[in-house]
Amino acid sequence: MTRTVYYTATTLDGFIASAEHSLDWLLTREADHEGALGYKAFEKTVGSLVMGASTYEWVQRQGEDWAYDQPAWVLTHRQLTPYGGRDIRFTAADTDGELRALHAEMVAAAGDLDVWIVGGGPVAARFAEAGLLDEVVVSIAPVTLGAGMPLLPAHVELVTREVAQNGEFAVVRYDVVRPDRD
Ligand SMILES: NC(=O)c1ccc[n+]([C@@H]2O[C@H](COP(=O)([O-])OP(=O)(O)OC[C@H]3O[C@@H](n4cnc5c(N)ncnc54)[C@H](OP(=O)(O)O)[C@@H]3O)[C@@H](O)[C@H]2O)c1
Repeated sequence: MTRTVYYTATTLDGFIASAEHSLDWLLTREADHEGALGYKAFEKTVGSLVMGASTYEWVQRQGEDWAYDQPAWVLTHRQLTPYGGRDIRFTAADTDGELRALHAEMVAAAGDLDVWIVGGGPVAARFAEAGLLDEVVVSIAPVTLGAGMPLLPAHVELVTREVAQNGEFAVVRYDVVRPDRD
């Protein structure tokens, strides 16, 4: 059954980017993508993905090609620059109904695979608050920033399922407690 997974990296104090949208604190660190809970195995489980506009713009600022073959959705109210020939759908989901319709579309597109919530934190929080998030996997970098873009700004109860070290990171996999299911 398709699961909806928020897979990301965070600082110890719960920020996924600096206030200026920098990921220098992350990209300078050693990680083993083929190691425990690493990206190599994770990407094979992804059937569709969604990200907010700031995350998409960060990707574009890197100046590299679009890295994903899966159907992707970008949440925005603006006209963002597309990558030619890639399956990227720009949409807004302001109401719960719109978010649920989007999620249903993403689950259908994922087939037997999972839905990846790439971020940012408020996007993941919207899915969690709507009862649509199943799992959180965080790679915790050994650093604090004191301020920045939040990991998951909502009250979400979690159950710890797996803890591993990967390079410099402590990686934790949690199930989201969903009263409707648990
Ligand atoms: N550490 C990591 O592994 C990791 C992972 C992912 C992202 N990041 C970084 O974290 C930062 C996250 O930035 P952020 O918190 O600003 O989040 P974001 O989700 O990337 O972008 C937020 C923007 O997306 C649009 N948006 C969000 N929800 C929407 C909805 N339901 N409907 C329509 N539009 C919606 C809005 O932009 P508009 O209305 O202006 O279009 C909103 O201002 C970025 O710098 C990103 O690069 C880090």
